[in-house]
Amino acid sequence: MVETLKIQVQKTDKSRKAQVDFNNLPFGKIFADHMFLADYRDGDWRNFRIVPYGHMQVSPATPAIHYGQSIFEGLKAYRGKNGEALVFRPYDNWKRMNVSADRMCMPYLPEDVFMEGLRSLLKHDRDWIPSSEGSSLYIRPFMFSADEYIGIRPSQDFTFMIINSPVGPYYSTPVKVKIETHYTRAVEGGTGFAKAGGNYGGSLYPAKLAQEKGYHQLIWTDGKEHKYVEESGTMNVMFVFDNTLVTPSLGDSILRGITRDSVLALAKHWGVKVEERRVSVAEVVDGLKNGRLTEAFGAGTAATIAHIELIGYEEKNYYLPPVEKRKFSNRVLQELDGIKRGLMEDPFGWMEVF
Ligand code: COI
Repeated sequence: MVETLKIQVQKTDKSRKAQVDFNNLPFGKIFADHMFLADYRDGDWRNFRIVPYGHMQVSPATPAIHYGQSIFEGLKAYRGKNGEALVFRPYDNWKRMNVSADRMCMPYLPEDVFMEGLRSLLKHDRDWIPSSEGSSLYIRPFMFSADEYIGIRPSQDFTFMIINSPVGPYYSTPVKVKIETHYTRAVEGGTGFAKAGGNYGGSLYPAKLAQEKGYHQLIWTDGKEHKYVEESGTMNVMFVFDNTLVTPSLGDSILRGITRDSVLALAKHWGVKVEERRVSVAEVVDGLKNGRLTEAFGAGTAATIAHIELIGYEEKNYYLPPVEKRKFSNRVLQELDGIKRGLMEDPFGWMEVF
């Protein structure tokens, strides 16, 4: 891409990189030296800048804080053989950000602001991309309303930012999940498909209750009847029944996961039978009982492919077969990892070199 965006750069005078143990990275607690910002004012994006990562000033009357007019994305960069940044499907994140922006009455973010902002930021923070197994640079683009006004209306001013965090695995063990049949994450007509901050805020309490019972996460069900599986909050959810890959079809209440889409594409490419459809809680529980459900996993940027160890339903835990026996999810995990690290062929042209 030809650089057209004029980006002001203020580099840090003291990198924090030497203080980081890159062989022992937590998820989402460490941030690279710089961040990218852009302001939306008077109907246009402007003031593109890279500054040292750090706290920033916002008005206490910012509607993002009061009313949650805020959206975000998550994508990852990997270190290529020659030190280059290999970024997985960034155009899909840019597109999805605009789907979220539309739903949340936020302005369209042009491709060059997202891509050139990211390209420039990665140029300055390239050394923060970890190379150890299971690690990557998690990229967090986000946009929030920035008016100084506490009436309820869509803002006129916005800020778009990108920060980078070198990360290890989000889940370090196979996950224990509970099927949630009381609380609701999203409903038809709501914002569940958007990556809106409030979707995550609202899911904290039910997830906390599940965590108190020893689960890592929930499997959300439809808000009307709680009879159909939706997603897992930090990831989409997928099942293998009798060698068929089955996942809930997308709608208003499910995030259009890029990892989800990648798994489906790989499965079809390999000739695996794929079904995107309504998935009932009853068939999942029956499958666990009669052994037809051989694999279950989450798919997400942060979570990557997260094997599900057990599923809790109505106070009972149902165990899945041991992880080493799971042919499909292990293959997809290995293949996706190989593509992302530039070690395997990329048949879909997913990787961008930045
Ligand atoms: C991601 O996978 O990028 C997400 O946004 C999920 C979040 C739990 C980190």
